[in-house]
Amino acid sequence: MSSSVTGHTDAPATPASEPHALPNRPVTAVKVARNMEDLMQAFVVRAAVFMSEQRCPYAEEFDGNDFTATQILGLIGDEPAATIRVRYFAGFAKPERLAVRREFRKTGIAADVIEFAVELCRQKGYAKLYGHAQERLVPFWKRFGFAPMGRPDFVFSDHRYIEIQRDLDPLPDALSITEDPMVLVRPEGQWGEHGILERSAERRATNPTGN
Ligand SMILES: CC(C)(COP(=O)(O)OP(=O)(O)OC[C@H]1O[C@@H](n2cnc3c(N)ncnc32)[C@H](O)[C@@H]1OP(=O)(O)O)[C@@H](O)C(=O)NCCC(=O)NCCS
Repeated sequence: MSSSVTGHTDAPATPASEPHALPNRPVTAVKVARNMEDLMQAFVVRAAVFMSEQRCPYAEEFDGNDFTATQILGLIGDEPAATIRVRYFAGFAKPERLAVRREFRKTGIAADVIEFAVELCRQKGYAKLYGHAQERLVPFWKRFGFAPMGRPDFVFSDHRYIEIQRDLDPLPDALSITEDPMVLVRPEGQWGEHGILERSAERRATNPTGN
């Protein structure tokens, strides 16, 4: 996998990393969706998997929470293959809407997008992840360190769900209020690389003009 969440050591700007092949694995890349093209790619994966395969109604799949979340996109070659989104609450983050297009299952990209999401949350300082697992996928989530919370199951969109959680070790250099402000303005998940706003700081503060 080419992409990873980068910590915020004060590294110089680097070009976007190129996807690279791992032995016996297709070329994959995982990234935060940053523009409409990325978002469309994440959403077509969701539409194919949840609306088409699982027959979820549109309004339940695209539930009004997509613009409060970080959308993560997994690519195999040029094809959008996998996605997961993360929503944030005061004491925990909530990964959800994990989907891998049927033709890209068992490639390992499910693990890649989950691990990317986990690292993003660690970098943000979260110590707890909370999720709703489709009942049949609880063993799958256990592989990623999630454990059932032992509370009553519940149903929505025609699936039975189990609450799961995972404790995290926040990264020692997790982002905090004492962070360098120019690190906090870097693009989400790319806190280890100089961003465009740092380049903008080379210009003098000339606005507002006229006084
Ligand atoms: C769940 C999902 C993302 C897993 O992707 P994947 O590429 O199949 O994942 P992996 O190949 O890494 O699977 C890991 C293991 O979980 C198992 N697994 C995957 N999907 C499963 C399912 N629906 N039921 C039971 N086990 C499943 C696989 O068999 C595999 O086990 P194995 O290694 O012993 O063969 C994919 O099946 C998917 O998109 N499903 C539909 C969407 C969905 O239900 N999302 C989850 C909402 S909680």
